[in-house]
Amino acid sequence: MIKDLNAHLEFFEELGVDGVRREAEWRSRTQPASGAHDQHVPLFTSSAQALKAIREDLGDCTRCKLHTLGRRQIVYGVGNPNADLMFVGEAPGADEDIQGEPFVGRAGQLLTKIIEAIGLTRADVYIANVIKCRPPGNRNPEPDEVEQCEPFLFRQIDTIKPKVIVALGKFAAQSLLRTNDPITRLRGREFKYRDAILMPTYHPAYLLRTPSAKREVWEDMKRVRAILAGDDD
Ligand code: URA
Repeated sequence: MIKDLNAHLEFFEELGVDGVRREAEWRSRTQPASGAHDQHVPLFTSSAQALKAIREDLGDCTRCKLHTLGRRQIVYGVGNPNADLMFVGEAPGADEDIQGEPFVGRAGQLLTKIIEAIGLTRADVYIANVIKCRPPGNRNPEPDEVEQCEPFLFRQIDTIKPKVIVALGKFAAQSLLRTNDPITRLRGREFKYRDAILMPTYHPAYLLRTPSAKREVWEDMKRVRAILAGDDD
């Protein structure tokens, strides 16, 4: 319902409507001259606009040392600004650094299959990482890098307001949940997290090395599907 309304408002926005009001006099208002839009305070801000504003705040980020360590571009996040389901990985790898989109390499292709296995597409969900720049040699992100970058992920989460966040792998799960518990203890459990349910599962790169673990990820994804369908007891 809310989603329909959002889609509706976004459609109107694309048509150039800059707000809606219920008062009768507003319906007979005169059109602003072209170029005068900036003088109007928008009456609603879509998630898409809010995500764009967060990206603009990031700018050509130099907040941590990764910008000096060979990153080609910031890998912000991709997908549906109103997604019910969000995936959070660790950090961009080489392919993502080149293409500017999270999870586009081999692990990403497996993630796409995982998403499709529960009847969704990449365009239905939102995909991001704990940090937005590639660490050199694919090393783990360092605490100072996470500290600088994480607030932007939090803003993305709070804008999208997903019902379920799947933390992909040990690093994302531990860093979002502020725990050192091993992924083997975290996966299969559900955590309350920023108005969402956070479910840790194995990273697709781990599944490429350990295909037998796909069975557990499939169990996790069936649970995700059930929660999204409102069958969450
Ligand atoms: N691994 C991640 O954690 N994130 C990506 O975007 C790609 C690989």
